[in-house]
Amino acid sequence: MSDREQWSSQSGFILATIGSAVGLGNIWRFSYVAGENGGGAFLLLYLMYIFLIGLPLVIAELALGRRAQGDAIAAFDGPAPGSSFRYAGVFLGAGAVLILSYYSVIAGWALKYFTGAALGHLWDTAAEGYGSYFQSFISHTGEPVIWQTAMVIATALVVAGGVRGGIETLSRFLMPLLAVIITGLAIFAVTLPGARNGTAFLLAPDWSALVRPEVHAAALGQAFFSLGIGMAVFLTYGSYMPRSFPLPRSAAAIAIGDTGFAIVAGLAIFPAVFSFGIDPTSGPQLAFITLPQIFLQIPGGALLGVAFFFLLSAAALTSMVSLLEVPVAMLVQRLAMSRRRATGLVGVTVLVLGLPSAMSFGLLSEVRIGQNGILDAADAAVSNLLLPIGGILIALTVGWRLSQQDAISESELKHPRLAYIWLWILRLLVPLTLITIVLQSASML
Ligand code: PHE
Repeated sequence: MSDREQWSSQSGFILATIGSAVGLGNIWRFSYVAGENGGGAFLLLYLMYIFLIGLPLVIAELALGRRAQGDAIAAFDGPAPGSSFRYAGVFLGAGAVLILSYYSVIAGWALKYFTGAALGHLWDTAAEGYGSYFQSFISHTGEPVIWQTAMVIATALVVAGGVRGGIETLSRFLMPLLAVIITGLAIFAVTLPGARNGTAFLLAPDWSALVRPEVHAAALGQAFFSLGIGMAVFLTYGSYMPRSFPLPRSAAAIAIGDTGFAIVAGLAIFPAVFSFGIDPTSGPQLAFITLPQIFLQIPGGALLGVAFFFLLSAAALTSMVSLLEVPVAMLVQRLAMSRRRATGLVGVTVLVLGLPSAMSFGLLSEVRIGQNGILDAADAAVSNLLLPIGGILIALTVGWRLSQQDAISESELKHPRLAYIWLWILRLLVPLTLITIVLQSASML
């Protein structure tokens, strides 16, 4: 497949992978999950899982993808062609579509808020309060679907533009801009009166939370979701990576970039939350109810609100692009479809599949899966089941199905002891930890 596209430069590739990793997970999800799980203690566990389990898996995914120089099916098929393991690729491709189906709904909320903030009408709702504003928006039958559709169309346009022309170009432009915006917001937030309590909440661990198993499960789930591992995104992005890019260094840049973003986002959000005396455990609504209320009360807050919701929408866009690329690469390679056609087909599938999530607070609000509504159930199933299962499949493929020599040479880990540790993390630690989490989550369903 010599005509396969490749990234044009290492920095473009790294910005695209960080673009995939940094998303709603770092801002919307990180802040409320950290808030619910004890702040600093959660942060510590999250960092531990990122570097102990996440980073080795990023290396594994990139290495397996680059070796295959093909879609995720080719990556799993590589070690022993023709085995049923290649269906793992199909499974993960379907998983990416499932994530997109509900992720795009929340991305649509962000886009609606960005538009409202920019045009000004978001700030007229002060009287009724953002709780009822948000509630009446998400329970509307048509509106969330319209905003979700706008996000999916934007994603499809980028992916249709190709790896270089679409994905790389967008990431090069957006990611540095987002880094500037989030840093600016954090600097502003930590200088608010009373911000100290917020930084303390995020940075000073409450040690007792460390021994609570559910905090571990939440931290691991968040590490997976936030990096975006186990969903074949890095397999696919890795397959466009030339041999000349240094692999472990790229993986480290992704992990550090993603965590750095999450921490700075936390520093932008918690000081503000505490400064206004708001409960940090307010759950998924933190970004959509709590923050607009705060923006309204700060001088210049309208501008901050525009910046924040732009950040949220744009970060979601680059993550959606990476998820869409997984099934599109498969259709292009397997069914010889044109990129545009494949993009259109998957885009429509995402929208149809996403309808129940988009309506899960309105027309379908009575539908419960376990204790959750449809969208929350999809999110829980993805971070606690699907991504860990994907992680296990990748760890087993690289750890056991590739020969030891191949695995180590593909990883480019030059230091023999480090390479060995990496391999055994994949062989034992990753599967055992993830199986525990999957079983624990399955028992809670
Ligand atoms: N990492 C993205 C986020 O933090 C979400 C994502 C999950 C992207 C899985 C790709 C794969 O929002």
